[in-house]
Formats: sequence, structure tokens, C-alpha cells
Amino acid sequence: MSPPGPAISAHGLCFGYAGREVLHDVSVELTYGTLTAFAGPNGSGKSTLVELLAGVRAPLRGEVHRLGSVALVVQRPAAPETLPLTVRDTVSMGTWGRRIGRREARGVVSEMIEAVGLDGLESRSLTELSGGQRQRALLAQALASRADIVLMDEPDAGLDSASREHIHDLLVEQAARGVAVGCASHDERFVASADRVVRLEAGHATTHRTTGARAATL
Ligand SMILES: Nc1ncnc2c1ncn2[C@@H]1O[C@H](COP(=O)(O)OP(=O)(O)OP(=O)(O)O)[C@@H](O)[C@H]1O
Ligand SMILES: [Mg+2]
Repeated sequence: MSPPGPAISAHGLCFGYAGREVLHDVSVELTYGTLTAFAGPNGSGKSTLVELLAGVRAPLRGEVHRLGSVALVVQRPAAPETLPLTVRDTVSMGTWGRRIGRREARGVVSEMIEAVGLDGLESRSLTELSGGQRQRALLAQALASRADIVLMDEPDAGLDSASREHIHDLLVEQAARGVAVGCASHDERFVASADRVVRLEAGHATTHRTTGARAATL
């Protein structure tokens, strides 16, 4: 079980592309055992913020403190055409940083493939998957790492409504296990069900606590 309290604290984040600032003085906190949704229109800065929180980009100004291991699921992952990776290979990579034996790793991989609903497609190449299936394989990889903090950039984009709900349930379940989950999404129903919502508007953020069922305990 992860420790209580902040998993990521970010203060005064500013970021720009080619000299144009797109995130302005954003401060957010992700807490263990909670689901935080990043919402806002196209171009409002969700992906940029998620990447800064994950540490794949460095802020121009401001600070990010991470108090745990991070797994990131990027938006619209491309399949490497030159490397024939199967679903099983992809999810297995998530276990590489963990100190577990081969047999346990195989169990985790099967469990995660099933959790995202890709069972039966284990031997399929990533290049032969639909966009939504590929997205789910990458999500399974992130969950297989058992990272303390899971950051996701629209893992629900392009999924049919049943798959989308399934993924949302999985994220709620992760938060209930103590993981700090941060997820960008355009699905307002999902956003409303999160414990906290960071709403971005042209690079400015406001944070709301929702009145959802779990909010009272946070
Ligand atoms: N690689 C890049 N080079 C230049 N500008 C970029 C780049 N990536 C994003 N931007 C700009 O930064 C701003 C924020 O983009 P970002 O991708 O973070 O938004 P978003 O909220 O994730 O949008 P979406 O809902 O479409 O995924 C936008 O104005 C976008 O045009
Ligand atoms: Mg984005």
C-alpha cells in the first residue's frame, strides 16, 4: 500500500513550445489513493501538463516533486513498425523494472491483458491492432509496472462506450488500491466521477474537488 499524502506536488509550472507559452503558472497535487482528471478543450494544455508531471518534459519555470515511481501512457501511441512486438511483449515490458521472477511476471502479464480485455490477442503484433486496442495494450503495460503513480493521456479516446467504461472502472479500482492516478480525458461523465478535477483553459488551471461518492473520504 502506498503512503498517504501527496504523490506529486507541482508548483508554478510554465511551459512553452518554440517561445510560445502554453502553460501558465500551473500548480497541482496528486494524492495517493485518488483519481485526478485533467479536463479542458483541445489545445488547453492537458498533454503538456501530464508530460511535465511525468518528467518527460522539464518546465521552463516551476517545480515538480514526485514521491514515487511513475508510469505514463501517452496520447495516441504509435506502433513501432520495425520492431515486431506482440501484445504479450508490450505488456511484459511493464514488469521489467520490478523485482519479480519470470513465473510471477507471466501471471501479472496475463492478469493485465485480461483486465484491459485483450485476452485472445496476446500473440497479435501491435501493428495489427486497432487504435483502441493498442491504447489498451499500453495501459496494461503501465499497470503491469505497479507504479505508485499512473499518469494517462486520454487512454479512453477512440474506445467504444463499453470499453471506455471498462477502462474507467479499472482506473477507479487502481485509485482504490492506493495508486495516485492522473488521467486526461474528454469524457465529462468520467471527469465528474473523479475525486479531483484539474480543469485547463488556455493553459490556466483550476482544481475542483468533486462531490462524487468517494469525495467525502478525501
Ligand atoms: N510539439 C508541439 N509544438 C508546438 N506546439 C505544441 C506542441 N504540442 C502542443 N503544442 C501546443 O501547445 C498547446 C497545448 O497543447 P496540448 O497538446 O498540451 O493540449 P491538449 O489539451 O492535450 O489538447 P488535446 O485535447 O487536443 O489533446 C496547444 O496550443 C498546442 O498547439
Ligand atoms: Mg492532449
